[in-house]
Amino acid sequence: MHQSRIWTVLLASTLAFARVLYAEDIYVDDPHSYADPRTFRTKHLALDLTADFSRKQLVGHAELHLERVDPAARELVLDTRDLTIRGVELVGRVNRPLKFKLDPPDAILGSALRIAVPRGATTFVVRVKYETSPDASGLQWLEPAQTAGGKHPFLYSQSQAIHARSWIPLQDTPAIRLTYEARIRTPPELLAVMSARNEIDAVRDGDYTFRMPQPIPSYLIALGVGDLEFKAIGPRTGVYAEPSVLAAAAHEFAHTEAMLATCEKLFGPYQWERYDLLILPPSFMWGGMENPRLTFLTPTVIAGDRSLVSLIAHELAHSWSGNLVTNANWNSVWLNEGFTVYLERRIIEALYGSDRRAMEDVLGLQSLRADIAALEARGDASLTRLRVDLRGRDPDDGFSDVPYEKGRLFLGFLESRLGRERLDAFLQDYFTRFAFQSVTTDTFLEYLWEHIAQDPGIVLTKAEIEEWIDQPGIPSSAVLPRSDAFERVDAQRRAWLDGSITAAELDSARWTTHEWLHFLGNLPETITTEQLRELDAAFDLTGVKNAIVARSWLKNAIRAGYAPASPRLEQYLTSIGRRSLVKGLYEELLKTPEGARRAREIYAKARPLYQIPLRQQLDELIYKPGE
Ligand code: BES
Ligand code: ZN
Repeated sequence: MHQSRIWTVLLASTLAFARVLYAEDIYVDDPHSYADPRTFRTKHLALDLTADFSRKQLVGHAELHLERVDPAARELVLDTRDLTIRGVELVGRVNRPLKFKLDPPDAILGSALRIAVPRGATTFVVRVKYETSPDASGLQWLEPAQTAGGKHPFLYSQSQAIHARSWIPLQDTPAIRLTYEARIRTPPELLAVMSARNEIDAVRDGDYTFRMPQPIPSYLIALGVGDLEFKAIGPRTGVYAEPSVLAAAAHEFAHTEAMLATCEKLFGPYQWERYDLLILPPSFMWGGMENPRLTFLTPTVIAGDRSLVSLIAHELAHSWSGNLVTNANWNSVWLNEGFTVYLERRIIEALYGSDRRAMEDVLGLQSLRADIAALEARGDASLTRLRVDLRGRDPDDGFSDVPYEKGRLFLGFLESRLGRERLDAFLQDYFTRFAFQSVTTDTFLEYLWEHIAQDPGIVLTKAEIEEWIDQPGIPSSAVLPRSDAFERVDAQRRAWLDGSITAAELDSARWTTHEWLHFLGNLPETITTEQLRELDAAFDLTGVKNAIVARSWLKNAIRAGYAPASPRLEQYLTSIGRRSLVKGLYEELLKTPEGARRAREIYAKARPLYQIPLRQQLDELIYKPGE
């Protein structure tokens, strides 16, 4: 490199970091919200909603308790999507109607609701009367047939990232935190639960009240309604599920209380009183969602052998990274997810040992590498940075393993430089200092630098950190995980592939889910139907129940055109709606014309099961224009 060019590069990165050193306003720049927190800020929300299952609508009102930050401000802007606004009032002894205007919708952001607010008090309450659309992106209305029990309908919400606005008119940015209360009316035979204080022994009468006393960002407001029962796991933990799922769920997640204790030892006190789980029907497009006090979960993690509980560790860890200290906007989502994956792995290590942790780290890295390659291939290499620019994009599209696994590698890198003890102390300080606040990447970097700069003997440069945050790919300073157990699996796989042993002779009797995932996830692309038939005969992989192992098997089956797995593939795709399990299978099918036909055939049957945002994504994938 030419000398002057080197200086330019050095100077540029120093300047980029200099900006980092000055605190900036978390309220300035959320590209995914029309709300302007520099004029008004919501402090509290009171909901009064009726769940009308026959019309698939929530009907009622939201009262926003607002603070006027700019005395000159006259227009309150709220985020909405597909809401019908029935009226807006200023709440007082006598409510006064307020003028409002709903902007035409933007495909990603929805419609700004502009409310004319009279001058006056610095705190006031606005009531918005509204109803939701049956296609609200943040609500899923399920028919009885789509539930485990088959007799009652089900409703759940999914607000992250920007879907809260499709069921509540509000300032839908994680820069703002609010407390909330709610009154939810349902058919009397159903139970409603929320990301709030839930009464374990609530009388089932169709009229439920909730209070969330800690300030949270809007994406953590959540509601579930169904034929739900509760079973305690420990003093602070328990499960809500449909009756037929309850016992299996309570058994699967029996270690939740121990995980909570481990977390408190590692990261500081748990601030949310209780930690309960809500098991959703299989339509749920996520593995889990860290709704405070009440994680929402896919039933696909109920494997029978607790092999997939890292998902609980993950959602529980969000009680610190994410829910306590929150990314101020979605460009900094790695602050939520990267920290959480690191915390998750520490919990797994503490409870199940370093071998299991190493396997989960390696599987994470493999998945990260595949995602980076895919992002590069589609010209989205900028999304392989930790700090991203999602302006003009749907935050659901910017979603990949990068904020998760690259974020976790960055924390591993910090651990290698600071030492585990120092990093743990730093993390506890960070969670205490920013508890119940929202932070940007810059705020985090500034805090990190202030803290460690005082430490003698730590070798860490700003240029290294800058590379992690703002450069694509995996930096060379990454500490890459390795697993002895997986190396033994590799040796077995090689021996089988080169013909020195048969499939039945694979030394797999003691393989756990993780080893199977590593084995199946790393079969060569050239694997043949004959080889798959041999494996299937030895291990009945087409019949395997574990949803993650099954996915990996089915991916190989599609690749090789292994016909005996075809009915299982259809059954799988028409019974599971979890995005990370099904999307890759459709993508694999779409690689050949014959597969594409099969994909369309299966998708036509499966589509009604899938959650609305997933339908939109798969519609685009499967029904490409011109086909
Ligand atoms: N908060 C996420 C789920 C999410 C992310 C919803 C972005 C909407 C937008 C949750 O904590 C999560 O990360 N779930 C993962 C599981 C985890 C073990 C990697 C998932 O659902 O795959
Ligand atoms: Zn997460």
